[in-house]
Amino acid sequence: MKILSAPMAGFTNYAYRELVRLLGGADVIETEMVSARSFVEIESRSGEFPLRLWGVRGEPNVVVQIWDNSPEMLSEFARRLAEDFAVCGIDLNFGCPAKQIANKSESGSYLLRFPDRIGDIVTRVVAASGKIPVTAKIRLGCTTDSINAIDVAQAIESAGANGIIVHGRTASDMYRGNADWNAIATIKPKLKQMKLYGNGDIKTVNDALSKMQNYPIDGIMIGRAALAKPWIFRQIAAAAANREIPSDPTDTEINQIIKLHYKLLREQLIPKSAISQLRKHVFCYAAGKGTSRQFRHAICQTNDTTTFFKLIDDFWKISET
Ligand SMILES: Cc1cc2nc3c(=O)[nH]c(=O)nc-3n(C[C@H](O)[C@H](O)[C@H](O)COP(=O)(O)O)c2cc1C
Repeated sequence: MKILSAPMAGFTNYAYRELVRLLGGADVIETEMVSARSFVEIESRSGEFPLRLWGVRGEPNVVVQIWDNSPEMLSEFARRLAEDFAVCGIDLNFGCPAKQIANKSESGSYLLRFPDRIGDIVTRVVAASGKIPVTAKIRLGCTTDSINAIDVAQAIESAGANGIIVHGRTASDMYRGNADWNAIATIKPKLKQMKLYGNGDIKTVNDALSKMQNYPIDGIMIGRAALAKPWIFRQIAAAAANREIPSDPTDTEINQIIKLHYKLLREQLIPKSAISQLRKHVFCYAAGKGTSRQFRHAICQTNDTTTFFKLIDDFWKISET
């Protein structure tokens, strides 16, 4: 049973992935979604790569998620990721419901309407990726009236993909309601051998165990819960292996994790940008502690590293010296 760290635009950059890796427990760690078009355009214009690929080359257990609707661009991008970046896997985004992607670019969840087009894209990307495994991430369908995850999953399997990740909502649900794990489960008997990973609303170790035990899946993917608790993967891995579950970190340890997160961000970013990225994560960490409005407000007011970390030290009081 595999444990996957979900792609989350704006969050799952190099520093977050490395943090998750250091904390342990995740078998696969996905990047943010990267536009195939931007890769091709940026490279031909400047010889550079999209920032979202920073750190990816040679990174262990990393899967790069890619999006577009052009089989040519996607397969060219996949070829480069496999050959030049030595990635561990390529995941195709057929689930994003954001207007910019689905409506304006006719990509992401827009493509769920067309299982044949999805099959065509997957065939081309699998061929271009060589031995690198290809997965696809989908939602149940575009709307509750047009749920077609089984058709889409079969098209993806016939095209040679290694696995499918299903977020148990429709695109029009966005994040409303609950993920429908029974709907995810209906897909498994319709597959020959392709792996099925379930995704949506796993918030705790118990949630994860109950999904692993009660649904016919090959693994789970976790997104939002890990933004507040990137150590959740090691807890789930231990629980799944019947080992003692590591306890939640103390305030002092969370403080150290935040400092480590900053250090990792600084490998890529200047202090001001690192603080502005870290701030988003600090809000997630703080949500687990019962967010203080005053703290949130104060953290928003400063880009100064010393002031910023003084606020962090006060909020997650250092109890050991
Ligand atoms: C801030 C944010 C950014 C996301 N970005 C992506 C993305 O780039 N690609 C993708 O396939 N899904 C993306 N998702 C969806 C997540 O991967 C996941 O499917 C969803 O959050 C449900 O899982 P969860 O309940 O464990 O968070 C994003 C979700 C959030 C909250």
